[in-house]
Amino acid sequence: MKKKLIAGNWKMNGSLAANESLVRALLAGMGGAGCTVAVCVPAPYLVQLQALCAGSALELGAQDVSQHEQGAFTGEVSAAMLKEFGVRYAIVGHSERRQYNGESDALVAEKAKAALAHGVTPIVCVGETLAQREAGKTEEVVKRQLAAVIHSNGHCISEIVVAYEPIWAIGTGKTATPEQAQQVHAVLRAQLKAATAHSQRVAILYGGSMNSANAASLLAQADIDGGLVGGAALKAPDFLQIIAAARQAPAA
Ligand code: 13P
Repeated sequence: MKKKLIAGNWKMNGSLAANESLVRALLAGMGGAGCTVAVCVPAPYLVQLQALCAGSALELGAQDVSQHEQGAFTGEVSAAMLKEFGVRYAIVGHSERRQYNGESDALVAEKAKAALAHGVTPIVCVGETLAQREAGKTEEVVKRQLAAVIHSNGHCISEIVVAYEPIWAIGTGKTATPEQAQQVHAVLRAQLKAATAHSQRVAILYGGSMNSANAASLLAQADIDGGLVGGAALKAPDFLQIIAAARQAPAA
């Protein structure tokens, strides 16, 4: 039985003061969570978050990682650096980075590999655009995105986390229905099963306008192991309600 994982993706939001009050409210309200909870924060705040989360159940995550070990890569942050700040998770291949930074499937796979090499769990994001969904290409797109990561990570694939984030549901208030999400999660699970004997170990998160009202029904689906939460992760009461929903959800 694996615990649900609720990860907040703060994206490019926050300030020293806002982070402190958000994290203090989360720590006060989380209790012994009964599920794994993480916040993926902008890199400059990792040192602040490391101190705030010390000794707590709140895990720390980054929003990206370099595929390189070290060297002349201005602006990049390596997995080894993240590890020094107690980072447990790194999002890779978020659709915003694929779109605005031109990240390819192959690059995302290399980033996942770099994270795994340093004991940082990559949260590999996959998801289709509205046009791709309407053209009936959802399965093809998410399978292609995940295949690249499976191909370059071999037996380590059971150590990753996958996040299915339909692009049309991100920040739009439009959520995939639990059935729509489950359908894609089942496809991803089957793909993982063909790649590793330990596919059940891989958490498959749903992301895209998850909120306190829809979390419970999404998290009740057989192959939805948690959530990657954007906007609602910036408001302590909302994020705490999603955590509560995860705690009550049936375990896989
Ligand atoms: P929203 O929850 O704001 O739709 O964002 C989802 C997301 O992109 C998480 O990575």
